[in-house]
Amino acid sequence: MTSIQVKPLTESGFFAEITGADLGRHGDDAQFEAIKSAHLAHGVIVIRDQRLSPEQQIAFSRRFGPLAIHVLEDQLLEGHPEILLVSNKTKDGRYVGLPDAGRFWHTDQSYEERPALGSILYALEIPEDGSGDTWFCDMTAAYEALPPATKARLDGLRGMHIYNHAHENFSLNDDQATRLPGYDHPIVRTHPETDRKALYLGGKLLKYIVGLEEAESGTLLDELYAHCEDDAFIHRHQWRQGDMVFWDNRCTMHFAQPYDDKRFTRHMHRTTVMGDRPV
Ligand code: SIN
Repeated sequence: MTSIQVKPLTESGFFAEITGADLGRHGDDAQFEAIKSAHLAHGVIVIRDQRLSPEQQIAFSRRFGPLAIHVLEDQLLEGHPEILLVSNKTKDGRYVGLPDAGRFWHTDQSYEERPALGSILYALEIPEDGSGDTWFCDMTAAYEALPPATKARLDGLRGMHIYNHAHENFSLNDDQATRLPGYDHPIVRTHPETDRKALYLGGKLLKYIVGLEEAESGTLLDELYAHCEDDAFIHRHQWRQGDMVFWDNRCTMHFAQPYDDKRFTRHMHRTTVMGDRPV
């Protein structure tokens, strides 16, 4: 028996709001099962009004699988490498975390052999003017709405994902770049738990479609992004302090919007659950 309430925030059912949960009670099995099924049913969930220590966020996240340690080791929370700092705070003149994480459509860790299952982003401080939204795209609905001829054309195609040119202030050092040479994944993947097909694109990190001429690959990818940007597939999340947003990277893309980072602080803790190899 759990007291949590799940309310979809779009007509299609994509993106749901959960109230009445306390993720500090990460050992509560009924609460965990309700959150897990909401996550699978809605693709992205926001769990409101949380007050969590790093240990509690890590313990909750671990219930969904092993956690990934982000390659940018200088942007991890000291003593808790499972937490990536998404933050424009500075200490001794340098950023403590990533001030410009995800400023383009992408899905997390798509450049790895086993990209992220899900990411869990906890808002500790948000801009006072309400800016710094994160946009989410429902890639299952986007795939299902494609014309049959486009679906047939995409069948069997693979995209090459490489982690470079992602941030203004950081780039991978030679060792990090050697560890992450990139990986190719299907352009259409089947969700391992729901069995539904979804587009799997990576924005700036998806460099080309394997086996196509550069121009053909570019044109096809442009067409797919234009299709995905239809309002029918998108939910724009405006953050509240204490929000914990958990997105399923296997069937969604997201895009962090800019804000006035000279005037406002946006400080978040992200944990990342490791996933399967896309098929
Ligand atoms: C991310 O892509 O992990 C960051 C998203 C955000 O800051 O809104």
